[in-house]
Amino acid sequence: MQKKNISYKELGLCNSRVLFSKAVSGGYAIPAYNFNNLEQMQAIIMACVETSSPVILQVSKGARSYANETLLRYLAQGAVAFAEELGTPIPIVLHLDHGDSFELCKECIESGFSSVMIDGSHHSYEDNVKLTRKVVEFAHQHDVTVEGELGVLAGIEDDVVATAHTYTQPDEVEDFVSKTGVDSLAIAIGTSHGAFKFKPGEDPRIRLDILQEIEQRIPGFPIVLHGASSVPQELVKTINEHGGKLKDAIGIGEDQLRLAAKSAVCKINIDSDGRLAMTAAIRKVFDEKPEEFDPRKYLGPARDALKKLYIHKIINVLGSNGKA
Ligand code: G3H
Ligand code: 13P
Ligand code: ZN
Repeated sequence: MQKKNISYKELGLCNSRVLFSKAVSGGYAIPAYNFNNLEQMQAIIMACVETSSPVILQVSKGARSYANETLLRYLAQGAVAFAEELGTPIPIVLHLDHGDSFELCKECIESGFSSVMIDGSHHSYEDNVKLTRKVVEFAHQHDVTVEGELGVLAGIEDDVVATAHTYTQPDEVEDFVSKTGVDSLAIAIGTSHGAFKFKPGEDPRIRLDILQEIEQRIPGFPIVLHGASSVPQELVKTINEHGGKLKDAIGIGEDQLRLAAKSAVCKINIDSDGRLAMTAAIRKVFDEKPEEFDPRKYLGPARDALKKLYIHKIINVLGSNGKA
């Protein structure tokens, strides 16, 4: 069956342009939370409505194949109605996380996404520019905003494993932004995906000096941080106390992220912390109440734990509370 093109505007979603310019001038960052299912979406919206925060709902390639892209889009549309029902309409962006081809970005743009990331960071600089430019030209015809990436994060990105950081080179950013026309730029300054960002004994600090240099080259331009989970140790402890095996899980300190959010960093990506919160809550129920077999009895506590985590991030790390 031929798919019908849908604009995000028909779904009540918005792109990220105005949100980012307000976030940069206001010294805060918008939460970009990944979701794959109903409970994650509910927790995100409940947390953002309660704190009156704008939000970016992120869908990865993996999420699309796990949950079905059409269903996720319906969930995002449902999120708009859900927020209104909870009392406050909030700005909601539906964003493709780590798009790796023009075709995937195009498909998402035509099916209701309001923002896409084209991650050309694994290509040569020239090819990254070319690919990003192509996506921007198409996206802007639909008033969809585009995030590009320069530099490579260590860790796992989809199926690609990078063993070392390739920090973003400040002397490339101005050229990249002007040649591609991107609306925001993801940079590599020592963050990484997943729950194991540093080895024990390693200096767990990110390179805020590189961020500062980048800001000087492109003043006021919206910067994005990927791999920004903090890996709360109390969640790791709960998981391990209830049968989990997470050894040496270390994240990015919240104090460093707070500093970044006060600068031109206007979007902070958080996925792993949500995974930890859900896993801790579910393991606890399974361990303490082995007689339970109703999914609502463990997915409910998982949703509550997620909501609590997201509220904490909004108020204490991102500073986006009250900015809806
Ligand atoms: O960047 C990675 C995000 O955490 C999404 O992860 O590709 O396993 O859905 P995923
Ligand atoms: P974390 O793995 O640190 O949560 O990063 C998520 C991310 O960058 C999604 O694009
Ligand atoms: Zn990422």
